This record gives sequence, C-alpha cells and structure tokens, in this order.
Amino acid sequence: MCGIVGYVGYRQAQPILFNSLFRLEYRGYDSCGIAIADNGITVYKDAGKVGNLEKRVPHLEGTAGIGHTRWATHGEPNQINAHPHCDCSGRFAVVHNGIIGNYRLLKKQLIAEGHRFISETDSEVIPHLIEKYYRGDLEGAVATALKDVEGCYAIIVLAAGESDLVAARKGNPLIIGIGDRENFVASDVPAVLDDTNRVVYLEDGDLGVISTAGIRIMRDGREVAWEEKKILWSVEDAQRAGYEHFMLKEIHEQPRVIRDTLIGWLSSDESSGESLVDLTKMQGDIRPLTLLACGTSYHAALVGRYIIEKVLGIPVRVELASEVNYYDRPPDGAVAIAITQSGETADTLRAMKRAKAAGCLLLAITNVMDSSASRIADEVVYTRAGPEIGVAATKSFAVQLIILYSLAILSYKVDARRLADLVMELRQLPEKLERLLSDKDGIKECAGYLAGYESVFFIGRGINYPIALEGALKLKEISYIHAEGYAAGELKHGSFALLGENTPVVAILARDNTYQAMLSNIKEVKARKAPVIALAEEGDDNVGEFADMVISVPAVDLLFSAVVNVVALQLLAYYTARERGCPIDTPRNLAKSVTVE
Ligand code: F6R
Repeated sequence: MCGIVGYVGYRQAQPILFNSLFRLEYRGYDSCGIAIADNGITVYKDAGKVGNLEKRVPHLEGTAGIGHTRWATHGEPNQINAHPHCDCSGRFAVVHNGIIGNYRLLKKQLIAEGHRFISETDSEVIPHLIEKYYRGDLEGAVATALKDVEGCYAIIVLAAGESDLVAARKGNPLIIGIGDRENFVASDVPAVLDDTNRVVYLEDGDLGVISTAGIRIMRDGREVAWEEKKILWSVEDAQRAGYEHFMLKEIHEQPRVIRDTLIGWLSSDESSGESLVDLTKMQGDIRPLTLLACGTSYHAALVGRYIIEKVLGIPVRVELASEVNYYDRPPDGAVAIAITQSGETADTLRAMKRAKAAGCLLLAITNVMDSSASRIADEVVYTRAGPEIGVAATKSFAVQLIILYSLAILSYKVDARRLADLVMELRQLPEKLERLLSDKDGIKECAGYLAGYESVFFIGRGINYPIALEGALKLKEISYIHAEGYAAGELKHGSFALLGENTPVVAILARDNTYQAMLSNIKEVKARKAPVIALAEEGDDNVGEFADMVISVPAVDLLFSAVVNVVALQLLAYYTARERGCPIDTPRNLAKSVTVE
C-alpha cells in the first residue's frame, strides 16, 4: 500500500517531506520520491530506501511539496514508475495511493489526444487528465479529471505557480494535518504526528484544498464544515492506526483490500467482469490443473480446488510445494498455478521451476511485484493486499481467495444469470465482512473460553475443510495452543481417542450439502464430552441446540462461506492469543518469508 504526504507552509518543504516519508516506512515500500514547487516543479525519485534518496537530493528551495512511498502494483519498482508522476508540460505533479481500474482505456484516449506517457503505472493518467482539463483553475481541473477515473484513490496534486495543494479521496484514506501558518496532508496519521496532532479525516468523495492560510473541503461541489480531531496516540500507535497489533489492523483491512482487488476484475456495470486469465481456454484439455503452495497459501489452494471444480468443472490437483518436489513425476497438467504471498518461499519457487520444466504454463498469484515467483512465472496475477506486517497471514489469504473466485467465476461462460449472481455476491462480500468485524463480542467470549485449553480441534467439510485447517494454523501459530484442523468425517477414524472435556472442538457449518453430516459430527463430539463452539450462519436456529457456544457469521452464497468463516476464525485466534498474552505480531520461531527448503 503506497504512502502519500504533502506540505504547504512557511518552512522549507524538503526536510518535512522526508521526515514524513520515514514515518511511513513501517508500511513497507519499494521506491519513493518527492516533488517541490520552486520556480517550476522539481522531482527526485528512485527505487530503494527513503534514506538513500534523501542523501542524493540537493537542497531544493521551496515551501510546498509532495512525497510518496510506493508498493508496486502496476509496473516494476524502478525510477520511472516511482511517484510523483507529472503531465507532459511538467506543470502538475501527483502522488497516488490506490488503483485505477479503467487506466488502460484512459491512457489510450490520452495518447490519441497527444499525451506522452513514460511509466507503466496506472497513476500517470491522473496528471495527464489534470493537464487536459486545466483552464486556470486547479481545483476544478482535479474535480473534472476524477470524474473520468474508476477505481479507488487518495491523491495529492502539486502545481507550479499555484499556492494550494489539492487532495482527494475515494476508497483510500486521507487526512489533513492542521498547523499554524502551515498544513499537511497524508495517507495516514503517523506521517504528520511529529508536526501536529490536529487532524481532519476526509470522507469518501471529498476534495480538499490546502494552503498556508487554511483548508477548504468540498463535497459534491459544495464547501462543507470540517471537524478537527486531536490525536493522542504515539507515532507507534498511529502506525497501527490505533489497533493494538498489526494483525488486528490487517484483519480489519480485509473489506478494503478485497474491494481494491476486485477493481481490476469487475466492470462497473454491476453484473459482469473480465477475467485477466481465462482458465477454460488456458487449460484446453481434461488434464488436471495443478495448484502449488505452502502453509496458509496451500489452504487457499485447497479452497481454490472446490471453487474451480464447482464453477468450471475443470479437475484440480492441489500439491504442497514442499512435498511435490519429492514426487518423481512433476506436475504435468497444462497449467500450474503457484500461490505465494511473499513470492519468495523456497519450496514454492522450486516446485514452480519443476512445473515449468515439465512444460506447464505457469501462473503465479502473489502479493509482491517483482518477487522471484513473478519472475519465474509466465503470467502473474497480483493480489492487492498491500504489505502484510503481522507474521500470521490474514488479509493476504483473503485476497488469494478473491483472486481464485475471480479466476473461476469470470472464466465461466455458461449461464449468464448464475454469473451475474456470483459477481453480485462477490461485490457484496466486503460489506458483509464489515458487518462481521463491527460486532466481535461473541468471538471475544469464545476466545476467552478457548484460552484456558491446551488442545483444540477445528472441523469442517467441503469448502470449509481447508478453513478448518487455516483456523487451526492461525490458533497454533499465535496462541501456542496445540490445534488440529480436520475433515469432520475423519475424526472417527482415529482422533476420537483424544476427545474429551479438555479438547474443545470448533465446528464450521455451512447450509450446503455438508450441513446434516456436520450436525451429526457435532453430536458425536458432544457424546465424547468435548465442548463445541459452532461457527454458523446468522439465522441458523438448529445449531444452538447442540453446541455450547455459537459464533454467527453473515449469510452469503455458499460458495463464499470460506471467506466469512476464515475472518471469524482469524479473530478467534487473535483474541485467544491476546488473552494468553502472546507476542501476536512476532510469534516465536516464525518468519514472514521462508526462504529455505
Ligand atoms: C501462516 C503463514 C505461512 C505462509 C507460508 C507460505 O500464517 O503465513 O504459513 O502462508 O509460509 O508463504 P507464502 O505465501 O509467502 O509462499
């Protein structure tokens, strides 16, 4: 996720902007840059660290400027793709956080009108649009330019010869920091906290005009009153946006990153979308498609099998990348898909190389642009989770699922009505997750209960079997409670021997063809005196009769139950670990990226 900052006031802008960029470093980034308004606009930017850029930039005279830390999404991390981006005349400089869904179309139109582009980014269309509409009124030009843009953004615009910065947001956060004869604007609070703790939060669709003298906020073309908030957090608290841990922050970011991820896939006409990769065409014959991954990404792959087989009818083979390397026969389907958040997991990279050598067309689903996985693969689909700082994967898993849903659903050409229903359901997922995240009392209560035990089973069937595996993995890695994820039907084939009053069982129910069997499994577990926490859809009145505690999740089309259930289980693991006083963001013995086999 990119970070953006802006300053206008009586002091030299350069050191203030660099200090703000240092304060945003915790988010992770691959390149950075600043622009200062002097006589014209001077831009310095490059791949690499803020500290390196700071050392190379000479003193720039100017009291207004903007800055950026980039997490690459369109175009590799290099000097040209780094922000700020300018128009042809070099008069307007823009920093952008977000994704512009229709940038290809806009870029084509602008090129036809004579604009010259130099980067591969989606963001570069914005300064060109401003240049196109500018008639001596910067605020008007930005407002008109943004009408052409589909997607999400937080932007700051700096223009030569103008005393104002113009900033706007839709879908991505933006705040204004209020100073004395100076004002600040940034994507997050830590960027301004060294200079001011007086902050105004812009709302979606707002456009802010920021000058030395003051600020104005425009909504739907009219100036609106704004409310100043005092931030009492330390810089460290602010980096976690006030959440106690990065993991909790990242769990809460899921509705937004899912929306960001969908922007690239779904059209604005509500019921359709375009697959960047047509699985039915790529696969071509009936050999199984192979999914390769480790850990949490492997659980996403297992969910992917259900989705792809159900929607497309293509047979899918799922392999642990850490094991497939010992099979004599490498994956030999037409297509292999590697799923890896970091793009650097050694086992996954090795499996990818073997699949490619065996003649598979290789697709990577990864969160990190220019990672090793993206360089090995023939095709890459990027998840738009932004940097994940908590060691336990949460939001990166959710968007891996969203990519797998999108790949399957948008390759589906058979029944237009079913397609429209599924696309609609995908669009509604973020809102349903917001509802789940806004009421966590039930989950906290169950977590308080689990925290007293040393062994927990998670059971599920069908698409929720991998979610049982993921729920158990989350719990063990951050709370250090022994946990096992099980296919519910397998318990009686051995693990029943362990069940008793000291082994709670978390049972995941969905009202699909697994429902009755799951209810029977719960009864069997109860008969062994094991306490049961059931995860069930809102309005499920049966389950309360059998389970000791029930966590209710919003009802969704059954194909999507994996997403709402996993978010509930992430929260369950989080609050259990918190209750036990564990170091949640940095669990013992674990690393964010596993680069050894
Ligand atoms: C668990 C977790 C790990 C990773 C695994 C693969 O929370 O994060 O299980 O999922 O190490 O990592 P990537 O997806 O980077 O290949």
